[in-house]
Amino acid sequence: MKPYYLTTAIDYTNAPPHIGHAYEKILADVMVRFQRLAGREAYFLTGADQHGQKVQKSAEKEGVSPAQFVDDITAKFIAMWDRLNVRYDHYAQTVDPKHKKVVQAMLQKLHDCGQLYKQSYGGFYSVRQEQFLTDKERGPDGNFGEEWGEVVELQEENWYFRLSEHVEWLRGYIKSHPDFIFPAFRANDVLNALEGGQDLCISRPVERLSWGIPLPFDERFVNYVWFDALTNYISFAGYLADEVGNEGMPDFAKLWPADAHVIGKDILVPAHAIYWPIMLHALGFSDEQIPRLIVHGWWNIKGAKMSKSVGNVVGPAELADLVTVDGLRFYLMRSMATGYDADLSVDRMIIDVYTGELLKGLGNLLNRAVNMAQKYRSGLLAASSYDDDLNKALRQTVAEAPARYSEKMNAWAIHEGIAEAWKIVDHGNKFVEDTAPFKLAKDPEQAARLDSILAHLAEAVAHVSVLLSPIMPDACAEIRRQLNWQMPDGFTVNDLKWGLLPAGHQLNEPKILFPRIELEGDKK
Ligand code: ME8
Ligand code: MG
Repeated sequence: MKPYYLTTAIDYTNAPPHIGHAYEKILADVMVRFQRLAGREAYFLTGADQHGQKVQKSAEKEGVSPAQFVDDITAKFIAMWDRLNVRYDHYAQTVDPKHKKVVQAMLQKLHDCGQLYKQSYGGFYSVRQEQFLTDKERGPDGNFGEEWGEVVELQEENWYFRLSEHVEWLRGYIKSHPDFIFPAFRANDVLNALEGGQDLCISRPVERLSWGIPLPFDERFVNYVWFDALTNYISFAGYLADEVGNEGMPDFAKLWPADAHVIGKDILVPAHAIYWPIMLHALGFSDEQIPRLIVHGWWNIKGAKMSKSVGNVVGPAELADLVTVDGLRFYLMRSMATGYDADLSVDRMIIDVYTGELLKGLGNLLNRAVNMAQKYRSGLLAASSYDDDLNKALRQTVAEAPARYSEKMNAWAIHEGIAEAWKIVDHGNKFVEDTAPFKLAKDPEQAARLDSILAHLAEAVAHVSVLLSPIMPDACAEIRRQLNWQMPDGFTVNDLKWGLLPAGHQLNEPKILFPRIELEGDKK
């Protein structure tokens, strides 16, 4: 079976990682971990977008070379993904010589088949923004506003890609492939944007931009910018590897097409939904070789009411410091419906999600299960012939969860997948309240019933630790450590059947999974 191939946007290395980057990488990581948990081989590519004008300028400002500048920022991204437990198979960097060879070979192919042409363009040019202006940029008074700085008339030659030739093909492709873009409603934005399509300028003269990949057929120009950035999805998957002599690459025929390009909504139109499929089509990729786009929404930060006691803390590292890495991963996955926007709220993260759900829900359930088993039975789960409707109902909830969870996860509804797993958490806590084991423990005649309750609780928690493991890998590993149970090699979500913890199983000592967060100003 073809491995599941997932990529994310490559992050622009002009500034360090922020929470939007972190969300996207965690979303991708969760999906890849889920695919593996579902028994599928997976390959996860993410990386850094390192060329371009902004990097060149920022490096100049700091008095370092662009290469040094992107190295420093890239190191921050890599350290962040390491900290947040984002486990990719390869980190794509567009300065990689292997990538450069593929970009150049691809441009040469398009050049050879007449898809690229050189043309002179004249117009008004903003020196500050380094772009040509059109009438759309004129203010109500007919002039270009202050924000454009000095505006000069300029005549410039550049290379163009015959994008407009393929617009009709793309329109048909989108209409006949409703799965191309998730969520589907975004396809309309793309179809609207196809009206009046023009060709795409793909170069900048080297005098204006030197920090880029030179055009192989005209070295007075460097590529700008999407042909470089988008190509990472195929160059690092082994496209043209033999032809350009790239060694140690994945087997392209086996990996491609990508099952998911995970991107934010701001780079859907025109880059990923127009330029990218048309580039592939122009290169001879068939309709079956067009990748699928998973388009997530936007985290609004300014809409967030920040907690007074924690201040204006919204960087991923600071948020992870506050609620742990898994707390942050859980909050981000739990609080956004994939495809839609959400407000980042530190208050909600700490109070409702970390304290309300993780500490009082999951943490409490684990602690009850392990604590009571230790207290009443020295951690030993005994066989019991006792059964009743309360037990049966809990077993039923546990039995139903995996299929429902998998369906939601496969459909990118991570927050709903979590909710399916959480039914076990809620039911487990209610089960403790309904059965009141602390009372039964005082009555020796209830020993068999108590044994069955303790076994049911521990077993239910074991199932939760599997279902939530893509979202909170460390916390779930810690749950299993306390349960003294490991997922066997090759264990999948389909192997979740009642009886993971057999009679006679010995639990470990309890430990608080999610400690209370003490905020400055909290009453002790
Ligand atoms: O766009 N909420 O890089 P980038 C959610 N290099 N997602 C966000 C976000 C937010 N507040 N801010 C950014 C680029 N993102 C290009 C991509 S791909 C061939 C080249 C997402 O660093 C954004 O939507 O600006 C994008 O998917 C990713 O972070 C990288 O953004
Ligand atoms: Mg961007």
